[in-house]
Amino acid sequence: MLIEHTLLPTRLEHVPLAVFAHRQVASCAVAAEVAGLIRARQRQGRTVVLGLATGSTPVSLYAELVRLHREERLSFANVITFNLDEYRGLSADHPRSYGRFMRRHLFDLIDLPETRIHLLDGAVPDAAVDAHCREYEQKIRAAGGIDFQILGIGRNGHIGFNEPGSARASRTRLVALDPLTRQDAAGDFGGEERTPRCAITMGIGTILEARRIVLMAWGWRKAGPVRAAVEGEVTTQAPASFLQDHDQVQFVLDHDAASALTRYRLPWLLGARACQGRTWDQRPIRRVAAPASEIHRP
Ligand code: PGA
Repeated sequence: MLIEHTLLPTRLEHVPLAVFAHRQVASCAVAAEVAGLIRARQRQGRTVVLGLATGSTPVSLYAELVRLHREERLSFANVITFNLDEYRGLSADHPRSYGRFMRRHLFDLIDLPETRIHLLDGAVPDAAVDAHCREYEQKIRAAGGIDFQILGIGRNGHIGFNEPGSARASRTRLVALDPLTRQDAAGDFGGEERTPRCAITMGIGTILEARRIVLMAWGWRKAGPVRAAVEGEVTTQAPASFLQDHDQVQFVLDHDAASALTRYRLPWLLGARACQGRTWDQRPIRRVAAPASEIHRP
């Protein structure tokens, strides 16, 4: 558990939070928890199953895990990994695939056995997609389930590629991508027309079965979706809000990603509580950077 910067929840928050000044510090705290779990399992002679995310959010986490491997002898020999998602049409060795992303940022830089890496295959033939997804779920079950799931959050509130409207019970499957998701990915593909229209993703139901879930978010662009997930109602329109139902979830945020939360934006709505202890004054008070259009209102 991330104790040091963990905040006492306000009455409006339905998810435990840890808020840090910078993403690097936040990532180090998450990496320390992951490393602690890996080492504890090593002492017990057991494996540990990690669910891994891609995108810009976990890059600093993976950099810290690589540093721990190189400088503090953290071994990944007992680790099994399952990645969250992959673009449809991209084979694992396509330069823009999440498979290559993982090799570049983590797998090629640590001692994780190749046989313990599990990636969704975006290039599997149409007729084999359903079987591929079922098999992926079976492999997760056979590994004993995911112990620790890392998540990012999309600007539309997605987790994995579970776009708004995705069902709580959804499993690993082929999905079409939201235009906003494709817009955000367009830079990586040299334009929106060249950005994949579909992806294969673990479902929300699959994610919620993980024993521990840490969602990380950095920057003011994530402030609106973070607020919706933390303070809003549980709704398919904000897929990350389903995490409110998980009893071992934590959101790890930097100041900007936390800036639309009532504790920072409208603390007087919390009454006298806002003036007590460290419920909302973890950082120097300043005006919220996010434009009003980015801030979700109840
Ligand atoms: P990002 O994407 O890490 O690149 O911001 C997160 C997500 O879309 O889940």
